[in-house]
Amino acid sequence: MPNLTVTSDIDQDPANYVRQCSTVIREFNHLSQDSGNASWLVESQGRRLFVKTAGTSRPPAPGARVPYLDHPARVRLLRNTIDLARSCDHHALPTLMNVIESPAGPALVYEAVPGELVGVPSGRRSDPTSPYRRFAQLPASVLLGLFDTLIDLHVALAAAGWVAGDLYDGCLIVDFRAPDLRVIDLDSYRQGTTTNTMGRMFGSTRFMAPEEFELGAQLDERTTVFTLGRIVWHFATRFTETRAEFCGPDGVAKAVAQACQTAPTDRPAGVADFAASWFTARLA
Ligand SMILES: Nc1ncnc2c1ncn2[C@@H]1O[C@H](COP(=O)(O)OP(=O)(O)OP(=O)(O)O)[C@@H](O)[C@H]1O
Ligand SMILES: [Mg+2]
Repeated sequence: MPNLTVTSDIDQDPANYVRQCSTVIREFNHLSQDSGNASWLVESQGRRLFVKTAGTSRPPAPGARVPYLDHPARVRLLRNTIDLARSCDHHALPTLMNVIESPAGPALVYEAVPGELVGVPSGRRSDPTSPYRRFAQLPASVLLGLFDTLIDLHVALAAAGWVAGDLYDGCLIVDFRAPDLRVIDLDSYRQGTTTNTMGRMFGSTRFMAPEEFELGAQLDERTTVFTLGRIVWHFATRFTETRAEFCGPDGVAKAVAQACQTAPTDRPAGVADFAASWFTARLA
């Protein structure tokens, strides 16, 4: 039986290969994702894996959603995410166990992580049973502890040169029982300081920095700081976006408010600086 975690090259479509050598538990494709990618949560030799590919290079079926990025651009993003995974080892990043090269591009084989995706379709955001609502309703000590993990991961990523792109609640998988936070889908992170060449960039408006809407603006660690701050503020204020409802001490709220300043120069200069004020306030 071929083994997904050791095979290096295949001459067939990953979709067929994955079905041959594992049991598919769930498929992610154009019906569930905007990306145009095709991925599978599978069980193979007693282990759960997540296999991600750029999907097909064939044109979409008539009436089907046309992805924003064509197949070569999707493959480029997956190669970017391979670089990211290999540059940073952190518990919050699911381990990239293998990369299988195929005629349709790489298949990334990750460990599958337990838990539920915090981001849900907008129509489900008011459902009290959704992971989105349950996450925001966690006891303060648990919620802030999970944000410790998110921030600590980004210190490691920034040290490896990565600037956040398209980081939103759909990247957060929470295991409510542990509790534990894992971060997925960092395909759009960029190396070093770059310039906004798109105007409105990909991402969820709720968490995007002003410079991600402005053609020609600089994107750097302060952009990461803003998005981290926004994610924390959104959930730690239990969706009210008000200081009065922030579920932590003043010092922590202040550190987060500083991260969410509109002008990049009013924010901490880097992720490490933001993390320093966050952790100082957390331990106070
Ligand atoms: N390591 C993992 N373990 C378990 N489930 C995962 C893992 N990685 C991703 N998933 C699940 O698969 C879904 C799709 O993964 P991902 O977001 O990386 O795909 P994508 O093609 O980039 O989609 P999008 O359109 O959301 O950008 C995620 O929303 C999550 O539910
Ligand atoms: Mg994606």
